[in-house]
Amino acid sequence: MCGIVGYMGAKNAKDVVLSGLKRLEYRGYDSAGICVVNDEDVNIYKEKGKIKALESLIGDVEIEGTVGIGHTRWATHGAPTQTNAHPHQSYSGRFTLVHNGIIENYQELKDQYVPKVERLSETDTEIIVHLIDAFSQKGYETEDAFRQVLNLLDGSYAIALIDREDTSKIYAAKNKSPLLAGITENGENMVASDATAMIHVTNEFKELRDLEYVVFDRDTLTIKNYDGEIIDRETYTVDWDISSVETGQYDHFMLKEIDEQPTVMRNIISQYQDEDGQLNIGKELDGLSVPRRVHIVACGTSYHAGLVGKSIIENIARIPTEVHIASEYMYANPIIEDDVLFIFISQSGETADSRGVLNQVKEQGHRTLTITNVQGSTLYREADYKLLTHAGPEIAVASTKAYTAQIAVMALFAIYLEAEQNLENNIDMFHELRTISTAMEQLKDMKDKAKDIVDEYLTGVRSCFFIGRQADYNVVIEGALKLKEISYIQAEGYAGGELKHGTIALIEDGTPVFTVITDPQIAKNTRSNAQEVEARGANTCTIVAKGLDREGDAWVLPDVHPLLTPLVSVIPLQLISYYAALQRGCDVDKPRNLAKSVTVE
Ligand code: M6R
Repeated sequence: MCGIVGYMGAKNAKDVVLSGLKRLEYRGYDSAGICVVNDEDVNIYKEKGKIKALESLIGDVEIEGTVGIGHTRWATHGAPTQTNAHPHQSYSGRFTLVHNGIIENYQELKDQYVPKVERLSETDTEIIVHLIDAFSQKGYETEDAFRQVLNLLDGSYAIALIDREDTSKIYAAKNKSPLLAGITENGENMVASDATAMIHVTNEFKELRDLEYVVFDRDTLTIKNYDGEIIDRETYTVDWDISSVETGQYDHFMLKEIDEQPTVMRNIISQYQDEDGQLNIGKELDGLSVPRRVHIVACGTSYHAGLVGKSIIENIARIPTEVHIASEYMYANPIIEDDVLFIFISQSGETADSRGVLNQVKEQGHRTLTITNVQGSTLYREADYKLLTHAGPEIAVASTKAYTAQIAVMALFAIYLEAEQNLENNIDMFHELRTISTAMEQLKDMKDKAKDIVDEYLTGVRSCFFIGRQADYNVVIEGALKLKEISYIQAEGYAGGELKHGTIALIEDGTPVFTVITDPQIAKNTRSNAQEVEARGANTCTIVAKGLDREGDAWVLPDVHPLLTPLVSVIPLQLISYYAALQRGCDVDKPRNLAKSVTVE
């Protein structure tokens, strides 16, 4: 779970690589490093900590050179130290390499091919670069040495390599870790872990698949398989621009992304509605017959979106739907009926746990659909069908706009399944999503209310609860995840009625309990649950739909379609989490121990 960049062109490589790495920091940020080469020198700088620490280390040193590679790390093998930071150099100093992933057979390879080479770091990565050196010393040309080594590696990797003896080329390869090629016609080419890291140079990309490598110079970029055969690959354009990967007027990506949600809703409408106002999702789903059952598989926030999706699909399309945590499903030996459609929900499209299940169920012959924000990502490529969430890049580790976009796209998918079965349609989904967008506009502007709630309920507390029932339960578990991951306050999302079966023992004087109430059928029940905790000293903060509100409620939500309430009730929870993290001086966009894209199991 690291990020890598490789650049070759006319610009200063240090600047291009560092800006790319900053956009990849979400993938890991415990150490970072760059290598920039020019005719005379191979300049390597690496430092423990975030890219800022690396920049301070470099200081005012002018590093000339238009060829460079860089790395931002989330440690797996070896502690996050300067020595373990990438790039790593081969024993002769000829080759320099960065790597994202885990080489499972590194010890065997070391013992067999380079037993006498002394490892300087504790990383698995170092072995790759020593092996390339060893093969080159056996007489292989660099590309052949690179390919020989790629054929030996077991595990996951995205690699970029520079050869000091011929700095006119960069070599890169991938297997089970993301890597994309960025191309231009102006004498600049690149590779990076994702498109955002290259958007300052180009918005034209070529996808790289597992067990492929690429060799590029300024003007040409060639993709090959591990037998050395050239692969022709179409270029595609991403309609993101530089502003979508910068904070602009905001202090943090998270707040920017919360604020972007109304626009994302409108974007989804425009992507999936045709000129006659009809749903235009069919071309992505061409050939998909209506399944008898749906299994949604995802992790974290995407799993929470899946829970909301289940209720929407079951209510609108009347198809029984199960939702599973990917890492659990993988080892559950589940009984799967015939005619199941597996839906993988993933912002990044790279989550290893979800990919594991996708591979399993594909092998078993099941149909798969991926709902993702990242075109060309692994889950996007490997599923039979795909729907994009069109949320624009989500950079903050805490997922916000991706969650609401996933739910909106599932709502449209539910309408599609309903129409395919000729069921009666009782909901104008585009109209409802427009209403949601307007409601989100109002809510996102209520930042002062969120700050006041944080001051009143969360100042100095160590733990708190979020309660709700049905759709509100699905939202409170997302609210609790958001709060804990960025503010480090212990937060539990609980089904309101379940609290009294044990967990209520934790309620003490002043324990904050956030209560979400949007369903008139069960509003009274949730109110009773709130009273139960209040009677034990809890400090309750109620977020409630208009019409169900009472005096003293903290936040009244605009009226929206009952199936879609999570799209609005989540906004106060996102804002409360943001301001709680800010109040505590936490690093909002890059919380400790986490990475945006979890590409290890
Ligand atoms: O990229 P994915 O949606 O597959 O990521 C899954 C989870 O790691 C992710 O949703 C995570 O829980 C969020 N970043 C939390 O805010």
